[in-house]
Amino acid sequence: MSESNSSARGSFASNFGFLMAAVGSAVGLGNIWKFPYITGEYGGGAFVLVYLGCITLVGLPLLYAEVIIGRRGGRDILGALRTLTRQSGRLGTAISYLTGMMAVVASFLMLAFYSVVAGWTVYFFVLAVGAIPGVEFGNPDVFDTMSTTASTATICHTVFMLMTIGVVTLGVHSGIEFLCKTLMPVLFAILAAMLVYVGFTAELGQSLAFLFQPDFSKLGSSAVLEALGHAFFTLSLGMGAMVTYGSYLKEEKRVIRDSVAIALLDTAVALLAGAVIFAVVFAKEGLEPSAGPGLLFRTLPALFVEMPGGRFVAAVFFGLVVFAAWSSAISLLEVNVAYAVDEFKLPRWVAAGGIGLCVWGLGVACAIGVTVGEVTLQDGLDDLVSRYLLPIGGLLIAIAAGWFVLPADSLSGFSHLPRSGNALGIAWRFLIRFVTPVLVSVVILWQVGAFDSWLKAEEPPAVREGELADPAVKQ
Ligand code: PFF
Repeated sequence: MSESNSSARGSFASNFGFLMAAVGSAVGLGNIWKFPYITGEYGGGAFVLVYLGCITLVGLPLLYAEVIIGRRGGRDILGALRTLTRQSGRLGTAISYLTGMMAVVASFLMLAFYSVVAGWTVYFFVLAVGAIPGVEFGNPDVFDTMSTTASTATICHTVFMLMTIGVVTLGVHSGIEFLCKTLMPVLFAILAAMLVYVGFTAELGQSLAFLFQPDFSKLGSSAVLEALGHAFFTLSLGMGAMVTYGSYLKEEKRVIRDSVAIALLDTAVALLAGAVIFAVVFAKEGLEPSAGPGLLFRTLPALFVEMPGGRFVAAVFFGLVVFAAWSSAISLLEVNVAYAVDEFKLPRWVAAGGIGLCVWGLGVACAIGVTVGEVTLQDGLDDLVSRYLLPIGGLLIAIAAGWFVLPADSLSGFSHLPRSGNALGIAWRFLIRFVTPVLVSVVILWQVGAFDSWLKAEEPPAVREGELADPAVKQ
């Protein structure tokens, strides 16, 4: 790619900047809200173990694949794939368009409902700070009232979208990199401080035992599939977010190391958030960790207010959730903006403003509770994206990386390593060509109900209710 082109589209100034942006994308509502509640519902330790296996076997190979495709292709997801699959002729072009367009559409749709949920976290932050007179923080009914009041939900979603569009408009270096380099270390520090706090005030020992002592009797095959699906979601895979960020990297020497670091940090945040949240839950007699999707918005505020300094801690905690959601949403918008800038040569501010406005409109329809047939738009979009588009996107990216991109490109992240690099590269190629596609296909088949009769005998599909949309209502 020519220098002028690369300076027009922007780039990360440092490797650390890329790492923090990618970790920012990965660490989001998935870690702080979803991971704890699905772990609670599936009984703790055994689920965590399976989840760690999924991250290693499927998440990590796909993460490397996305970043290296972005880095070597040097453009948005569609452009990067088209460049790297040139030698495969029409078939290469076809898979590039299919994968690229699906990622662009999926990230657009996802941002709309993600922003509505993120808006709720903004509300709880403002409420915890004491800036909403007349509403009592800690009252479990607040969540239902807030999320079903169209004007409140719309205002919160609007504020969150403005924050997201603002950063993306500022650019890759001055916006995304600057914000993530600043916010992510703060987020880690807050989590660490919260761990110390619950160590003194709540039941941290019990929480850690719950998270790390496996009880395999609670684990069925749907838990394994849930873990695999969540591995995708939490690492921001299947939507081109990591491809897009990879395209702003200046060199590929550290791609493999960074991919491992992203997966480790993301997992660490999920486990820390889980440890903190369960410690608080266990501190209250009679409460079960399987409180379900309402854990974050209903159970936790009610528990926080009873703890010493709890109101302040709650404000800090919800601030952290807002940070996490913000940096994830930014990466979703950036997939679309990179596409518009690279493919249509639109100025960044036009792309960010225009696409952001369209996403906002769709989000408003979600926030005010528009329904399509029997389901709300919010639930419908969530189902469509989390259950279908994300795994299908992941499958296509694995196929493109494993079967269409030349090894000279796909293995370039390993080439600077000493001898062990060769073996690692071979292992990665085996995983991405065979293991990942098979496992992801199993998830997709499960989503479309292919295993229903087999699973029915085993256990109720506890967590398949729910996903990101309207968590508490679905309890
Ligand atoms: N990884 C984010 C989370 O855990 O909340 C969600 C996400 C962000 C998924 C960006 C996909 C994506 F492209």
